Amino acid sequence: MKRDWSVYYDAIEGKPPRKTLLKALDLFDKQALPPTARLGIDLGCGSGRDTFELLRRNWQVLAIDSSQTAISYLLNHSDLSFNLLKTQIARFEDLTLPSPTGLVNASFSLPFCSPKYFPDFWNQITASLRFGGPECGQLFGDRDSWSTNNSMTFHALEKTCSNLPSPGRRAAAPRMWLGGFD
Ligand SMILES: C[S@@+](CC[C@H](N)C(=O)[O-])C[C@H]1O[C@@H](n2cnc3c(N)ncnc32)[C@H](O)[C@@H]1O
Repeated sequence: MKRDWSVYYDAIEGKPPRKTLLKALDLFDKQALPPTARLGIDLGCGSGRDTFELLRRNWQVLAIDSSQTAISYLLNHSDLSFNLLKTQIARFEDLTLPSPTGLVNASFSLPFCSPKYFPDFWNQITASLRFGGPECGQLFGDRDSWSTNNSMTFHALEKTCSNLPSPGRRAAAPRMWLGGFD
């Protein structure tokens, strides 16, 4: 189903970056990673809420979204320098991610990947984080009100928790997938 996201982009205009991204950036800063690791991928970047924060912190950013409208909204922010920014219009289902990368952010976007492609795409994300940097964003639970939508991916809490790194492993390679709206 093709969605018109412009109502959403208008509604969140001017909102601060997601708390999950801020937490991931804190974790990243505590790791002694090489300067070349400061390449962030913003998956399903939308109108740029999180991309802007990465650019403000002088990260190189690859901002990806399937919607041309999203990228147009993002590039409409003339208050920011886009020297460090690359944009790509592509669906998760068709993507090959660059590797290595320092951080992968996917705020409220990964659930829109079709279930058929999700496992491979997840593996790509993990493989691209060879420096051990964080991934951050949200997954949707299988009791979500949209969970009857077969074109989207939902996760059962028990399975998700056993598949994702435990808090213990998180200390070594910080990764987090936190829910909640902000
Ligand atoms: C709920 S919005 C989140 C946007 C942004 N990350 C934020 O937090 O404001 C979901 C975004 O995912 C994008 N999207 C949806 N399905 C996608 C797909 N299959 N591949 C790539 N992007 C997709 C949409 O165009 C939209 O911009």
